[in-house]
Amino acid sequence: MEPYRIKAVEPIPFPTRTERERALARAGHNLFRVPAAQVTIDLLTDSGTGSMSAAQWAALMTGDEAYACSTSYVRFETVVRGISGFDEIMPVHQGRAAERVVFSTLLGPGDIVVSNTHFDTTRAHVEVTGSEARDLPCPEAADLDSDQPFKGNIDLRALADLLAGPDGHRVKAVVMTVTNNGGGGQPVSLDNLRRVRAVCDEHGLAFLLDASRFAENSWLIRQREQEHRHREPIDIAREVFGLADVFWASLKKDGLANIGGVIGVRANPDLAGRFRQLVILNEGFSTYGGLAGRDLEALAQGLTEVTDPRYLADRADTASWFAETLHKAGVPVIRPAGCHAVYVRAGEILPHIPAHQFPGHAWSCALYLEGGVRAVEFGSLLLGSGGGTAPHELVRLALPRRVYTRSHLEFVVEAAIAVGRTADDLTGYRIVGGSPALRHFTAVLEPVAFP
Ligand code: F0G
Repeated sequence: MEPYRIKAVEPIPFPTRTERERALARAGHNLFRVPAAQVTIDLLTDSGTGSMSAAQWAALMTGDEAYACSTSYVRFETVVRGISGFDEIMPVHQGRAAERVVFSTLLGPGDIVVSNTHFDTTRAHVEVTGSEARDLPCPEAADLDSDQPFKGNIDLRALADLLAGPDGHRVKAVVMTVTNNGGGGQPVSLDNLRRVRAVCDEHGLAFLLDASRFAENSWLIRQREQEHRHREPIDIAREVFGLADVFWASLKKDGLANIGGVIGVRANPDLAGRFRQLVILNEGFSTYGGLAGRDLEALAQGLTEVTDPRYLADRADTASWFAETLHKAGVPVIRPAGCHAVYVRAGEILPHIPAHQFPGHAWSCALYLEGGVRAVEFGSLLLGSGGGTAPHELVRLALPRRVYTRSHLEFVVEAAIAVGRTADDLTGYRIVGGSPALRHFTAVLEPVAFP
């Protein structure tokens, strides 16, 4: 059961079917443009959508709003140092701000960055420097139904081949994203991370860690990697951070707060100085990084709560129960589930909709119309901006932290079952407007009529 009780409640909206139809049409059939007041259960993202604890709300009042070196920064820095072991700690307002600072400093045209899977903002920030972002997910990631425990790993053989080949000299860094959000929210094993460190040492590459879901990944290592089953999640997290040269995190996830991000640099004052310059230029002085002192307090407290084994056990169990319940009800999902989301294999539910008409998008619109449940497509709409198609047509049902109970998720399961019953009648969508960069955020779509 949840290792907390509820102290403050927030009513949720129950728009009627007609109101949902109207809201979706007005939003250009794009769920990012649907007002939250028209959403009953919001599983769009686990980012910035969590509930804070009583201790975090109390910590807000202790926020020190001094412009420079506030006591709230000192507390934040102490907590992040304690978890990561990094000496240089710079707050930023969210994850993509960190990505901009890191990649615009480290990369130039023609460079290659490899990753277990770049998240969409990560890829965009690599590509804007003229570099290439190459995903090398492990082969097990392709089998959505195998019980392989670490489908978030990088393919070490493909990495070795790339480094030995003609493009090897262009590779500048390896980005390990834990857990692997672009790859089904799957965890990365400690063994895989240790081997990446060895490869980076051998070839003089930078090991960059996207630690946005570091606590969840540590828990899944403890659950699934035999030799670590008795270790505390904080202890595993420390070892993972210890392998990287630079890390960043969107603290809107495992910071357990609604805004925030961070960059860490180890033993490299010159690099830290260059990062700091950009933080000051873009975010504000480097001890607040675009955040209020009270935000730093909430984050410092959240980061001390997130590695609690009881909290992590409940989070992982809930995701696993949600995935298995959907699976048993005939809704295909990626298994085993990670922690932060369950990914529905919409392409298999709607085989009559071709990838370029976005079956995942069609399924998520149908889920909204059915139950007012908001999810996000993770298929060819999100990943195919360059005209390509995604390897799998998925929909992500993300789980905000400490927000919804299992009975809310039972409601989602019922809506998903109902969508399955109407699958043959669902049509695809085409894009008729919006901007090309990260197009899923702004796209205007319309349903494609049956031929
Ligand atoms: N890295 C990962 C692995 C992420 O999942 C995200 C954001 C970012 C970086 C960027 O961080 O949003 O704070 O700027 N993921 C959110 C999501 C948006 O819905 O998965 P940000």
